[in-house]
Amino acid sequence: MKNNTDNYIDLGERGRFSLKNKLNNLTGKEWIKFTKSWFIHRPNRRKEDEILHPAKYPESLVAEFIKFFSKENEWVFDPFLGTGSTLIAAGENKRNGIGVEINEKYFGTCQKRIENLSSTQKLLPLLGSSFEIKSILKKNKIEQQIDYTITSPPYWNQLERNNIRQKPRSEKGLDTKYSTSKDDLGNEKDYYNFIELQAQVFDNVFDITKNKGYLTIITNNVYCEGKLFPLAYDTAISLTKRGKKSWVLKDEKIWLQDDKSLIALGINNAWIGNRHHQFCLVFRKEE
Ligand SMILES: C[S@@+](CC[C@H](N)C(=O)[O-])C[C@H]1O[C@@H](n2cnc3c(N)ncnc32)[C@H](O)[C@@H]1O
Repeated sequence: MKNNTDNYIDLGERGRFSLKNKLNNLTGKEWIKFTKSWFIHRPNRRKEDEILHPAKYPESLVAEFIKFFSKENEWVFDPFLGTGSTLIAAGENKRNGIGVEINEKYFGTCQKRIENLSSTQKLLPLLGSSFEIKSILKKNKIEQQIDYTITSPPYWNQLERNNIRQKPRSEKGLDTKYSTSKDDLGNEKDYYNFIELQAQVFDNVFDITKNKGYLTIITNNVYCEGKLFPLAYDTAISLTKRGKKSWVLKDEKIWLQDDKSLIALGINNAWIGNRHHQFCLVFRKEE
């Protein structure tokens, strides 16, 4: 590590780190690389305990976002924690983390994964519903404001509807829905109610986020009963129309999944696409 001028630290192959960098610990070279609007990510195969969860996202992917949108020792949050990928990625990258998960089984898996992680960061998984984030934090005596949130909410009713992809899971006796709880967002049948309820969760996230803090939501448009529901677009729009709690939409990054197999959907009959990408929507709190 070499101090080139008063303003930069030379980190060799990684490039130069500006001491004026307000957002992260990346060099200019790393910063620019991340700003591309799409990426391909091929994660390692999921481990046994991770397969139990029907829609886990890879730690390696979350890590890239955490490293861009926060600095070391800052606080990362996930209101739909699942098996805890966000907290694992936070701990492995010297960030602290808090997450809320409604399903006791996934919460338990998350706790075990954190116990097995050799990290000295504060990693706090909490059991409960994200509709009650503030009271859950209060009950656990956590007053921490959040620097960055990254999460993947349920994709409306997709777990139950996506029969072809879920068939092999149900044959193995694995979960094809998150829970039976009425507060589980994945159990909301009505699309427009879903959009409103999801926005309410992000109102809560808004309240606990520092001004200028970022939020990334990984989601997708979804196909149901012969038509496309623009879930990713409606998510983007709904969060920007919340009065004083409106998030500012900053961008989208597209995760291209070129490792998924093609399924013969609608073949010889009608158009049904193989959706092999996800939207990573980037918002910021600007008061
Ligand atoms: C797409 S998964 C997130 C998976 C997670 N990113 C991971 O890698 O394991 C959505 C999660 O949200 C949880 N969930 C649904 N409604 C919730 C709510 N109201 N509060 C907290 N968690 C909820 C589900 O149980 C599920 O684990």
